[in-house]
Amino acid sequence: MNFTEQLKKQELFSIIGQAADALDQEAYVVGGYVRDLFLQRENKDIDVVCLGSGIALAEKVAEKLGNNFKVNVFKSFGTAQIPHPEFDLEFVGARKESYRADSRKPIVEDGSIADDQNRRDFTINAMGICLNGNRFGELLDPFDGQGDLKKGLIRTPLDPEITFSDDPLRMMRAIRFATQLEFDIDGPTFSAIAKMKDRISIVSQERITDELNKIILAKTPSYGFKLLESVGLLEIIFPELVALKGVEYKDGKGHKDNFYHTLQVLDNITEFTDDLWVRWAAILHDIAKPATKRFHKKAGWTFHGHEEMGSRWVKGIFRKMKLPLDQKMRSVKNLVRLHLRPIALAQKGVTDSALRRLLVEAGDDIENLLKLCRADITSKDMSRVRKYLANFDRVEELLIELEAKDKLRSFQPVITGEIIMKVFDIPPSREVGIIKSAIREAVIDGIVPNEMKAGYQFIIEEGKKLGFTPVCSVEEIEINQSPQ
Ligand code: CTP
Repeated sequence: MNFTEQLKKQELFSIIGQAADALDQEAYVVGGYVRDLFLQRENKDIDVVCLGSGIALAEKVAEKLGNNFKVNVFKSFGTAQIPHPEFDLEFVGARKESYRADSRKPIVEDGSIADDQNRRDFTINAMGICLNGNRFGELLDPFDGQGDLKKGLIRTPLDPEITFSDDPLRMMRAIRFATQLEFDIDGPTFSAIAKMKDRISIVSQERITDELNKIILAKTPSYGFKLLESVGLLEIIFPELVALKGVEYKDGKGHKDNFYHTLQVLDNITEFTDDLWVRWAAILHDIAKPATKRFHKKAGWTFHGHEEMGSRWVKGIFRKMKLPLDQKMRSVKNLVRLHLRPIALAQKGVTDSALRRLLVEAGDDIENLLKLCRADITSKDMSRVRKYLANFDRVEELLIELEAKDKLRSFQPVITGEIIMKVFDIPPSREVGIIKSAIREAVIDGIVPNEMKAGYQFIIEEGKKLGFTPVCSVEEIEINQSPQ
């Protein structure tokens, strides 16, 4: 089936064509929708460019669609949008735009469809298909975008320096599309990015991060990061990651290149999850290795405490990247902090209390932590990888069994500080804290079950050590605790 037949299948396009005919305007579906039609990828964003007023066309289309459809008009941009249950429909009049060197604010005038295509980012995004009745399905592809789709090539329609000056974010977009579509970047386009990389500084962090997140969510994100690194953009937008690059040798002892290791972990984790935040945890898991790197004559290179330090860096990096500072960030912190724990258990042999402690600390992040750890097992020596993975399977099984039995992920001690104060009739004090952490530790270690009677007995003994005598029985406490 060719693309005209595909367009015909969607009645909306004929309706837009009829509306454009009624207004005596030319109208084209352009950009990503056309690209994805060729790639047979689903796309819900339909961008329509017309010769004349995009707002008038949108109003005509809404009229034809019926009463339920409204038009949102953005007068200052000359654009209009129709909220449609299935698509995001946008209309704009063809424009000529140019940008000043120091700003993203364009100077805009009316233009032809060719002007509109000239000012688009890549040849594969610069195709248009006419929707008017007498030319329905006619493809306008002045830069051979179709050919580039076949070759798998990202290339700018104009001289890349002009295209990137118009909007330097396009340098990131080039790499993002190359990564998502597994395409190459054309030589001159690639060289222009390397030359103009510093212009990224006029772009807002939100837009940069948006592209970075799309790279992270691709099937093989390492490809995008390697491209970003090789053109010099990564050093500007994410220097902490570039700092992981390199290998140092001393007394014949080297360590692995943590940049490539991190990228390997990121690629590995794509097999286990599409969750952006777990992928961010993979990117950040070793981020503090350069800062904690030491050389010891006997042990060689060590990175002691990199997980704690890395976890403390997460908030600053998220803030700089304009990523949310909410529960998602806290989960990433938790994953970075705990990322060595499951594998250490797998290597050293597992005690019940170490497993319990991990479950309590990881809480709801436990599944993602196990995914991160699995992804982190990288080595050139495949027999070593297999051995670790086998040990790891065992740790995972034990954790699942333990969780099913003791529900530790949402662990809340039954004996609270208030109960301790009531039992001994004492005010809030250091001693309450001592007893509270003693019972907490005992429960996590499996010495005392997390139940009122057993917990009461335990705190009586702990209280005695501090010279306290109980003033109420477990029954009195239970009566007070039960819901009224
Ligand atoms: N475009 C551009 N320069 C930009 C952003 C967008 O030329 N900096 C043009 C491209 O022609 C692009 C179209 O606007 O195809 C729509 O852009 P966008 O909404 O970002 O969507 P897609 O290209 O469809 O890609 P995606 O949805 O994956 O972001």
